[in-house]
Amino acid sequence: MKITNHFDKPLTISIVGKGGSGKTVITALLAKIISKLYKIKILLIDADPTHPHLSHMVNLVPEKSLERLRIELIDEILTKATDFEKVAENIDLEVYDAIIESKDFSLFSIGQPEGPGCFCPSNALLRKVLGSISKDFDLVIIDCEAGLEQINRMVIETVDILLIVSDISIRSIETAEAIRNSAKRFTKYKKLGIILNRVKGNTDIIKKKIKNLNLPLLAEIPEDNVITEFELKGKPIIDIPEKSESYLMIKKLTEKILNPNFFKN
Ligand SMILES: Nc1ncnc2c1ncn2[C@@H]1O[C@H](COP(=O)(O)OP(=O)(O)OP(=O)(O)O)[C@@H](O)[C@H]1O
Ligand SMILES: [Mg+2]
Repeated sequence: MKITNHFDKPLTISIVGKGGSGKTVITALLAKIISKLYKIKILLIDADPTHPHLSHMVNLVPEKSLERLRIELIDEILTKATDFEKVAENIDLEVYDAIIESKDFSLFSIGQPEGPGCFCPSNALLRKVLGSISKDFDLVIIDCEAGLEQINRMVIETVDILLIVSDISIRSIETAEAIRNSAKRFTKYKKLGIILNRVKGNTDIIKKKIKNLNLPLLAEIPEDNVITEFELKGKPIIDIPEKSESYLMIKKLTEKILNPNFFKN
């Protein structure tokens, strides 16, 4: 089955939210489920320079990160006196080479900074290469760093679906609200919604808050002992059984957001 994409190719989904809310687990399971349901080319981008855990969760480790590439390119300009423009011309090719493939999907990683300083150079480079590395894929799923940085810096400006993951705390919902406000200013998202994760007990207060803020609630993923057990043993999250509760809920979410009707209202 193919995804009907109403926008310019590819469809881009970004996963954002408060630190530790479950962004990477949800990215990994979304990728696994979509790859089983649809015959499409999927690119996963681990865009989190602080906690780059996606590759472990999907059991696919790229040989080179964007950060490594950036350092090598700077080195080439400085030590080999290679013409800057020539290096710039080849960036897309080099980045393309750094994508690792499995039979289900491909993965590209921003990587952790190798020296002192902030993440701005990596984020700026990611923003620059995102369009070119995405163009050969049908679907791009970006696991973002926690908080607002990559939205405010317009790294994910061209997102189609913005999924905001929240745990069952008021603080996390407040972060979600702040993310929506920034996303309205700095991205061109078509659809946005909340995924409430690690749900257990009575969450009426949280759901009331979500409703009052007029945030669309797309899915509730339960606190799942299977995930805890896999993490405890260091096993890739994509291998959790298809009958586990979290898997089934993320499958429902997938069917909802990839249904063409999702974009109609
Ligand atoms: N539904 C769930 N049930 C049980 N444990 C979960 C669930 N979702 C996530 N977790 C656990 O919560 C922790 C944080 O998850 P994850 O790393 O996906 O969050 P994150 O938002 O990507 O964090 P960071 O901001 O550090 O990148 C992990 O230990 C993960 O196994
Ligand atoms: Mg993460």
